[in-house]
Amino acid sequence: MVPTPRRGNQPSTSSVIPAAERSQVEEERPLERGECVKIRSVFIRGCPLQMELEDRKNWMTIATLLRTIESYRILKLERNCFEVDPTTADDVRDMVETYTREQKVYSKLQKTNGINPKHFGIWNLPECNYKTACNIVQTAVEHSIPNQQVLNRHYRPATSETYGETNFCQMESICKELKIGEDDVFVDLGSGVGQLVCFMSAYARCKKSIGIELSQQPAEFAAKVGNGYKCLMKFFGKRAGHFELHRGDMLDNRFRQLILQEATVIFINNFAFSPSLMLRLKENLLSYLGNGVRIVTTKALEKSVDLNERSADGFNSISDTRELRSLPDNVSWSSSTVQFYCTTMNVDKLFKYHEERRRRPSGSPEYQEEHVERRTRGRPRTSGYNSPSTSSGAKRVRPIEMEEEFLEQDSEEEPPVKRTE
Ligand SMILES: C[S@@+](CC[C@H](N)C(=O)[O-])C[C@H]1O[C@@H](n2cnc3c(N)ncnc32)[C@H](O)[C@@H]1O
Repeated sequence: MVPTPRRGNQPSTSSVIPAAERSQVEEERPLERGECVKIRSVFIRGCPLQMELEDRKNWMTIATLLRTIESYRILKLERNCFEVDPTTADDVRDMVETYTREQKVYSKLQKTNGINPKHFGIWNLPECNYKTACNIVQTAVEHSIPNQQVLNRHYRPATSETYGETNFCQMESICKELKIGEDDVFVDLGSGVGQLVCFMSAYARCKKSIGIELSQQPAEFAAKVGNGYKCLMKFFGKRAGHFELHRGDMLDNRFRQLILQEATVIFINNFAFSPSLMLRLKENLLSYLGNGVRIVTTKALEKSVDLNERSADGFNSISDTRELRSLPDNVSWSSSTVQFYCTTMNVDKLFKYHEERRRRPSGSPEYQEEHVERRTRGRPRTSGYNSPSTSSGAKRVRPIEMEEEFLEQDSEEEPPVKRTE
């Protein structure tokens, strides 16, 4: 088979002759090893995107991108000229050629007449809004995981490694409610294919967005999603926060410093996590977090109750938990709304409790009086809910050590509070 020469600058045939008929008119040019197409960016600050033609899943991504650009009707492209899905490498070459011709004209005009920032609307803004962040991350996910079934098969149901995703609409709501932004370090413990980490880097532009995923298959997909996301953000010329996607166990020592010293918002989709994993997570990691750090979960870490002799040794003694606004259709694994929670670390709570006990031993008239009054007034407001999202200045004292410190001082007045392990 002798390949026909490419058509150079001649008009594309792809939009005129369907692929099946075209193959009878002219022969397909065979794919060369490592052959790439370059899609030049029309966006302010945008960089070109290079894609290998050999990889067939790139074809649909290219078509999607070109359709997005065409839909703005800024380039002089025939209406819906990229509507037909490419079925051959030649279809893709033709699409890119058609686009590039008009992109060059547009770029030249921009150089002589100056850039019109209104062109391409929200796509030309330096930052992603919700819509563009969703669009870019979703394109990266679809590009990297063309067959989601692979993922579903990989996950073992009813284990801590059960598959399920949080939807972007819920994430946007959490960002607004908790005012997550550029000063925050967001860590997703059990990040799956990394879509939330990319979303937080694009939408909230957190100083750092980090994902840690244990399972091999989703971690491999996550690496691809991250790579695709990075290239797309460059193509659209968008500013983003730094992001990293790691494979490993969230309890591994190598992540400890990052989680305990840097994280200001920790996200744990713990809906299917086993009780033993949750216990290890709380005892070995989360209880060392500093004041003000927020932990978002799909199952409450512990109910917020007033501290007393029984409840003074639980996770609740160093944190406050509340329900977050939870939207319909907020997760992939259920059509019912899943409740999200925010636990704010409040190490002072335990200090205050022991101080009060020292001042007013239980049984004393003052203690009784105050507790009766409190019960009638309702629950006292705890301080951590609106704490700034920073871990700086946090008291990094392990609650158990704190408690022992207090118990030592308390010991003459009262028998120590019994710890239940
Ligand atoms: C339900 S998915 C959540 C994905 C993503 N965070 C979201 O909400 O869209 C939970 C993930 O946690 C991962 N996981 C379970 N145990 C883990 C561990 N010890 N360390 C890291 N990841 C873990 C599972 O493999 C799974 O991908």
